[in-house]
Amino acid sequence: MTRFTFSVFVALLLAAGTAQAQAIDKAPMKRTAAYDGPGMYHNYCSACHGLGALGDGPAAKALTKAPADLTRISARNGGTFPETRIKRYIEGLDEVAAHGSRDMPMWGELFRSMERDTVPLRVQALSDFLKSIQK
Ligand code: HEC
Repeated sequence: MTRFTFSVFVALLLAAGTAQAQAIDKAPMKRTAAYDGPGMYHNYCSACHGLGALGDGPAAKALTKAPADLTRISARNGGTFPETRIKRYIEGLDEVAAHGSRDMPMWGELFRSMERDTVPLRVQALSDFLKSIQK
């Protein structure tokens, strides 16, 4: 399952055919320190969500659903950053098979396959980073 999810992810990045996507293709799960929120965002998220997190990354065009603008999460939630929901979303905890798949990878599975014990730390660091870039 993890391997399947991951190959779909790489295929999407390849479809974008940009320099950034090719770099990711060469090093699919580039190792990034678990506490390094900005570094992980750059390596794992920017292909879809864009370097500025506006939802305009090079792989976005290959997706059926537009990647969310991650700078306006609080704005969409009455000015409060919904940390618990965002962490669950990144990890992929609320996905139920009956609701089908989503375009965004389940990062919990991918991080676990890379380094088992760092999932909570990684998800927290990513959430903290997103919280820091809210407009
Ligand atoms: C393959 C493309 C892709 C990658 C890579 C990706 N995302 Fe997403 N992301 C999406 C899409 C598409 C949506 C919108 C899904 C929807 O609306 O159903 C989304 C939605 C989100 C949301 C929900 C925003 C909200 O307001 O509810 C968050 C948070 C998020 N992504 C964070 C991340 C983080 C953090 C990473 C990197 C660890 C990441 N994404 C990597 C495609 C991607």
